[in-house]
Order: sequence, then structure tokens, then C-alpha cells
Amino acid sequence: MLQNKKILLGVTGGIAVYKACDLASKLTQQGAEVRVMMTPGATKFVSPLTFQALTRNPVYTDTFDEKDPNKIAHIDIADWADIAIIAPATANIISKIAFGIADDMLTTTLLATRADIYIAPAMNVHMYEHPAVIENMKKLVEWGYHFIEPGAGYLACGYVGKGRLEEPETIIKTICTHRQHANLLEGKKVLISAGPTREVIDPVRYFSNRSSGKMGFALAEAAAKFGAEVTLVAGPVELKTVHQSIKRIDVVTAEDMYQAMWEYFNEADIVIKAAAVADYRPKVVYNEKMKKQPGDLVIEMERTKDILQSLGENKSNQFIVGFAAETNTPLEYGKEKLRKKHLDAIVINNVVEEGAGFAVDTNIVTYFNKSEDEVAIPLATKDEIAEKILHFVDRDMKEGWK
Ligand code: PMT
Repeated sequence: MLQNKKILLGVTGGIAVYKACDLASKLTQQGAEVRVMMTPGATKFVSPLTFQALTRNPVYTDTFDEKDPNKIAHIDIADWADIAIIAPATANIISKIAFGIADDMLTTTLLATRADIYIAPAMNVHMYEHPAVIENMKKLVEWGYHFIEPGAGYLACGYVGKGRLEEPETIIKTICTHRQHANLLEGKKVLISAGPTREVIDPVRYFSNRSSGKMGFALAEAAAKFGAEVTLVAGPVELKTVHQSIKRIDVVTAEDMYQAMWEYFNEADIVIKAAAVADYRPKVVYNEKMKKQPGDLVIEMERTKDILQSLGENKSNQFIVGFAAETNTPLEYGKEKLRKKHLDAIVINNVVEEGAGFAVDTNIVTYFNKSEDEVAIPLATKDEIAEKILHFVDRDMKEGWK
């Protein structure tokens, strides 16, 4: 996968620089063209000559050491690179990138490049857990940088904990897996709904359900990570989107969700309805707070529109995935929903099962498509389940589901 790839390897000052030598060597052996850039700190641990010999390319250490008058070296390398890997990445370089600081060859080049950037941190465990480092890493993830988490174990500083540069083989494997996934849904428009709806009774009360939006948001993040153009129609939830490219439409009621889904439906390639839409709403909505009365209260309810049903009945080329939240004989009811709502696939969860359904970070689901292929996905995080669902959708679309 890395054959003929142009890789910029940024090496910063930490004892783990010795592992970067191995990484440079392994990348070169895999057929990648590797150019190494070292910070002044890194050169205190290992000589640039070591990397030059391993990669058979010049090593860059100084922004002002312009060897070719026809080129500006840091811009030239920034444009040249397909991938940039920073290993080891110190707390210092992470913070500098997060603040747009460009005060040496490496930081200047990283600011100028459009390449995918992978950061493999290595530092003392307390530095890795410092709120400043955590905030800076979070910011970089939001900007689309990829992190290869450090391993836990004995650290050169004498501590035992998280902060050890991941092994070169694992760094390469993680990057290859990521790149395999990265383009899975490139060019596809994915429309996802998440969270509950709220059906208003009066200015202070509403009917709703326990959906937190976690499943739908995990799907939106995974689809964006796989290169799709994502529109997320979200009911009232506390969650934030991480991937900056996600277009988020906030709605409140089932009717709002119906309107928003229809607005984006025609241009969508894939539609996934993970939202828990209210089936009923109060027939009368009061403009003022209802006063307490003696005795019982009866609120007359009317059906909301079935959004998924209407999309399924009117679809052209969209691949439509519904969710089924069931509490007894889930597979039977779920499969019935697939047929009734004209879906291409349905994700069935038994919401009373431990670790599945509403509000938790995990789920247990069965993916069932209209060709009647059935795959059980056992307990896993909603992020992992989202990725698996999207892989099955991609598989089914490639197999010409129409
Ligand atoms: O949000 P979380 O806390 O992470 O919880 C996740 C979840 C349990 C909400 C999710 O995994 C899930 O199961 N979502 C579907 C919930 C649901 O409403 O299921 P249902 O069986 O009632 O509806 C079947 C399908 O029809 C769903 O895709 C639903 O979005 C859709 N529907 C239902 C009613 C309606 N009026 N319009 C709809 O589009």
C-alpha cells in the first residue's frame, strides 16, 4: 500500500528517535520514498546522517539551508508529500501545530502541506495526560489530523504508563488500515438522522424518548472519516460533531425531521435513519402553560408522519438503511419493517439487552439486507458498530443491490 508513496517523516526531540530510524528503514523497504525532516532537538539524539543512509535521501534540518535556488525547500517538500508522519511527536510539536506556530523547518512545512498527517506521540505519562496536551490533540483531531496512540509500558524517564512511541510495525499497519478505509465512501453523499424528537404539549412540556443520538452521531463521524459528504439531521441532543466536514441540521419535532430529511433526500446516495422518531404527538398544542386541574388528564394524540416509510416508498437510487428498536422477537419485527418500509437494509437492536440500545456507548445489532443476508454484530462500541454497518452498506452497494 505504501509502494511509491511520498512520505515526509518528521522527527522531533525525544529518546524514541531511535525507533524513528527503524520506521524510516521499514517505510523505505516497503517501497515508499521517504524524506526526513528533523527538529534541532531530534538531532541531539541521532545524527541526520543516520536517516540519510537509511532513506538514501538528504535530511532537512534548517529552513534557511536552501540548497537549490530554484526551489523554496519547505514549500517544495510540503507539496511533494502524499503523507506526513511525525514520529516521535513531542508535546512541544503537538502544541505548536495546534497553535499554527512555524518556527523551524518541520513546523513550517507542516503548516504548508495538504498531505494527510499522522502523529505518533511519545512523552512522559504526566505530560501526555496534561490538559494542555489533551486539548491540543483534541483540536488537531477536529482539524482532521490522525493520531497513533502511544503504547503503555516502561518509559525512558523511569515512569510506567502511557507515552511510549508505538512500534514502527504498528505505526505502518495503522496508517495502511486507515488509508484503506479513508476512501471507502469517497464521492458519496450520506444522509443520517440521529437522536429523539420532541413533541410539544405546551411551552414547558413535551413527549420524547431516551435516544441520546450516540448511534447516529457515530455513524456520521464514521461516514465522514470514510470520505463521504455527510448531512446529519439531529434531534435535540447534547452531542457535538467532531469531524468538521459534517453538515448538521438541528431539528426538534418529527415534522421538522420529516422536512429536513426530505430537503436532502433527493441528492443522497445513502440514507441511514438511526433516529428514534416519536410515533405520536399531542393533537392540540397549547400556546400557554396548561393549568393543573383536579382529577386525571387525558391528552389526545395523533400519528406523526412515518419519515422512513415515505422515503422508502419514493426512493430512486438511494440505498436506505433503517433501524429497528425492539424489545421482543427483534429479528422478526425488524425484518417485517424492512419489507414494509421498502428498505435496502435494517439494523436491528434489542434495546432491553444489557449494553445495547438507548444512551449507552455500546450496542449489539443485527444487520439484515433485502437479499436476506443476516450478520450479527456482537457487543462493541457504537463507533465500531458504525464502521461495520458502513462496510456492509458499501459491500451491498458494490454487489448491485438494485
Ligand atoms: O441514540 P442512542 O441513545 O445512541 O440510541 C440508539 C437507538 C436505540 C435510538 C438506535 O440504535 C435505534 O434503534 N434507532 C431507531 C429507533 C426507532 O425509532 O426504531 P423504530 O423501530 O420505532 O422505527 C423504525 C425505523 O423507522 C427507524 O429507522 C426510525 O427512525 C423510523 N421512523 C419511525 C417512526 C417515524 N415516525 N418515522 C421514522 O422514520
